[in-house]
Amino acid sequence: MCGIFGIVTKETRQLGPTLIEAGRRLSYRGYDSVGCATIDSQGIIDLRKDVGKIDDVANRLSFQEMSGKRGMLQLRWATFGEPSQVNSQPHLDSEGGMVGAHNGNVVNNVELRQQFIAEGMTVRSTNDGESCVHAVERYVKQGMDMVTAIRHADGDLQGDYAFVIGKAGEDRLYAFKKGSGLVAGLAEDATIISSDLPSVLPLTRKIIRIEDGEIVVFWANGLELRRVSDGSLVERQPEIIQESMEVAQKGGYAHFMEKEIHEEPKVAEELLHLLENSEDVEPMLERMRSARNLYFVGCGTSYNACMMGSVYLSRLAGRVAIPVLAPQFIAQFAPALGPEDVGVFVSQSGETKDVLNAVAVAKEKGAAIFSLVNVIGSTLTKVSEYHLPMGCGYEISVPATKTFTNQVITFLYLALRMGGHDTTILKELPELMEETLKTALPQVETIEKRLMPWDSLYCLGYGLSYPIALEGALKIKEITYAHCEGMLSTEFKHGPLAAVTDGYPVIFTVNPENIPLILSGINEISCRGGWAIAIGEDDPRLHANAHDVITVPHTTPEIVSLLTVLPLQLLSYRLSLVRGFNPDFPRNLSKTLTVD
Ligand code: AGP
Repeated sequence: MCGIFGIVTKETRQLGPTLIEAGRRLSYRGYDSVGCATIDSQGIIDLRKDVGKIDDVANRLSFQEMSGKRGMLQLRWATFGEPSQVNSQPHLDSEGGMVGAHNGNVVNNVELRQQFIAEGMTVRSTNDGESCVHAVERYVKQGMDMVTAIRHADGDLQGDYAFVIGKAGEDRLYAFKKGSGLVAGLAEDATIISSDLPSVLPLTRKIIRIEDGEIVVFWANGLELRRVSDGSLVERQPEIIQESMEVAQKGGYAHFMEKEIHEEPKVAEELLHLLENSEDVEPMLERMRSARNLYFVGCGTSYNACMMGSVYLSRLAGRVAIPVLAPQFIAQFAPALGPEDVGVFVSQSGETKDVLNAVAVAKEKGAAIFSLVNVIGSTLTKVSEYHLPMGCGYEISVPATKTFTNQVITFLYLALRMGGHDTTILKELPELMEETLKTALPQVETIEKRLMPWDSLYCLGYGLSYPIALEGALKIKEITYAHCEGMLSTEFKHGPLAAVTDGYPVIFTVNPENIPLILSGINEISCRGGWAIAIGEDDPRLHANAHDVITVPHTTPEIVSLLTVLPLQLLSYRLSLVRGFNPDFPRNLSKTLTVD
């Protein structure tokens, strides 16, 4: 997802290296184009931008040499306008006296562009970031100062976004937040604004979190915050970030994804510790028990964890929780929501727009808002009555791995507690995960090359393993670009079986409870020439029926299913590599989806 960064320094200096580093630190969000602008003391704007990755574009366009007292950088993930040089950000105003960049979506971009053209402005791209610049230009041309112009521009720009903008001949930059994340940093010799913390923390730990509807005016020595509604000043003390938030290094692994998969046992152990010591668990459970309706809400991988949570809760605590994708929660359940209901919202980033929209609706209806979130200080943590941290640290690779397992473990813990079961069984988990990773990799390697040519496959599961099959399929399609459909195994015969031809791959995630049912599924495929791959406990029946078997250690059915996701994560990772892709940054995707 797009990211913006802006800096104003005391002295004129080579800003290129700072901007490049900020770009690298924002790059985990996913992007297709990069741009930088600096403004020197003569008011000359140096703008360089293009499609490509940060280091590549920085080298080609010599970002390194860019200097001034004011600078900005933007990483663009295309929504309005194809990825192209002209649509890359930042953008200039008509006369080239202002420059700005945004993050988010301006949904009335098409109408605004027509208005700007009709008003005689020079519109160079189809990108909505340019509309933010012209919306301010429109009022500056009428003689307004920048803050007043931004206040008026807010009335014209529909959508959720944040932008940074600067004008030649001044000593400051301006930023505005409405829906997208924005944080300011106060360093000794500079003031910084950014979409998120990792790009600010190397420069300062003194930060101010910007809230929706606030304009930031920042210069080298500080900043002021003003309400967009009436221009009044907002008082907010800076906070000092204590936690170690070093931007993750690959630590000897080839990719972040590989590293993050291998961190799973360690972060699981830390999570269990956090949960045991959390004061929020009991009050959350209390409200969940007495809720009229209980919803588990998320998107993508986080939704798959919600499904798993719902299966756990029903089995272990006899309580129904409805797992639902966040946008569908609004459409389907909002009309019936009330103050007696509880929503548990699950999100790695805590910034997913679809999830935050669902939270807003639930809040409006008076429902209780609980959450499981990885990024501390994210919007979701702030709007939740209770939130449980995932404790995973940074997850850089776009495919979620360690956050999925910790989401599932949290749900398992909550279900055990709600059902009055002993949670000590979970203590074995980190070791079982370690063992699974060790034994699964060589088994995965035996099938990865044979799977490589297939652009279509299925991943099937039943009961406890159904959400795991969905998650495995999501991982495979996300980073191998093969179409992999996740499905309830019993549904396969109701249509998709027609896809099976000679050697057609179908992966089964197997829970020991359902082996006879899974064996029927396997045989329906193999008798038609298909290739059945089973992932489950070491069971002679699987070896006798499936063509390939990847085994996980023997344990309880609830934990076996969780373990079977590890070989699927490894398989998707290896398959992505053999198919020639970078699993950390899959095409078209972004780590944090802050748009509708
Ligand atoms: C998972 O691999 C994906 N990158 C994606 O489905 C992700 O889980 C989804 O976008 C939700 O993100 P969140 O957990 O940050 O809300």
